[in-house]
Amino acid sequence: MEKYINVENEKNLDILKDASAVIRNGGIILMPTETVYGLGANGLDENAVKKIFITKGRNQDNPLILHISNMKMLDKIAYDISELEYKLMEKFWPGPLTIILKRKNIVPDVVTGSLDTVGVRMPSNKIARKLIELANTPIAAPSANISGRPSGTNIHDIIDELGNKVDYIIDDGDCEIGLESTVIKVIQNEIVILRPGKITKEDLLTVCENVTIDKHILNNSEDLGKVLSPGMKYRHYAPTSKCILIYSENNEKMVSKISEIASNYTNPLIISTTENIKKYNVKNILDIGDKNNFDEISKNVFTYLRKVDDYHPDIVIIEGVKKEGIGLAIMNRLIRACEYNFIEI
Ligand code: TXA
Ligand code: MG
Repeated sequence: MEKYINVENEKNLDILKDASAVIRNGGIILMPTETVYGLGANGLDENAVKKIFITKGRNQDNPLILHISNMKMLDKIAYDISELEYKLMEKFWPGPLTIILKRKNIVPDVVTGSLDTVGVRMPSNKIARKLIELANTPIAAPSANISGRPSGTNIHDIIDELGNKVDYIIDDGDCEIGLESTVIKVIQNEIVILRPGKITKEDLLTVCENVTIDKHILNNSEDLGKVLSPGMKYRHYAPTSKCILIYSENNEKMVSKISEIASNYTNPLIISTTENIKKYNVKNILDIGDKNNFDEISKNVFTYLRKVDDYHPDIVIIEGVKKEGIGLAIMNRLIRACEYNFIEI
């Protein structure tokens, strides 16, 4: 059996049979979703799920999301689902929304970090859904990256890191969104956003008038007490190089602050929006996309964070964006990539 398939232009999805057999037999695979690539295994097979943790070097207390392809699978793993939760599923599934639900005992402890809840999402990527359907089991899949590294949004970015540690690789080209799903929990009829993503607060407000954003999203978890989403407390997305994030509503102020910082280093690298690229006088500069096109920036963020170390910079200076809409998700990932080294002026 070939270990790698490219399905970008594939019409006949029966080609996924080998991959689904790998899942059924307890193997682990690299698989596409619309958000980021996942490192997938049978979510009801304790030993298979353990392999994910070992392969990623992930902390045991950081729970995984179960991916489903139909509502029957949901009933198998979760119970006591509220009217509001059903409404959210109806509106945003299949799609980039993970909902934290009460879990049934069939879900192994290793998936949930022994919590009494489980994160569930139905991906919109057709390959992912077909794979789950053929495997006929929920697939546990964290983002495909070694823990702490930026998530993988195309196979090319993660092949060196994970390629020879998995049993099968499904290449579906670039992920459509590029940032991981929005994670939410409904607490007493209020939606709490635990991780921001493509589905924004404004989107959620169309279903429920009470939506709050967990305070860990833009701040250092250690100072804020109990985290609702264990993943928020770990170092994440960070390149090896030292990074700093700068943002100002006033573009010229932002550019001059970045230029000033750059002038103090010998080999600075700037990640700039397209508008500002000509305003900086440095050798190393990456164009992350149009300042107003958050979808474009989302798609580029992780690939760029993976690239920066190649330049061996003594500082990486990153332009921030407005924390509005999906901009909040972009800033959440960038702030963590910079290990909270963030100046807003
Ligand atoms: O878009 C995505 O969500 C991708 C693709 C592959 O689907 N997956 C992903 O998984 O980003 P991962 O494991 O990298 O991130 C899952 C996040 C973590 O921050 C974890 O702590 C949180 O979801 N999470 C999972 N189950 C949870 C639970 N029961 N309660 C609270 N947070 C949970
Ligand atoms: Mg992750």
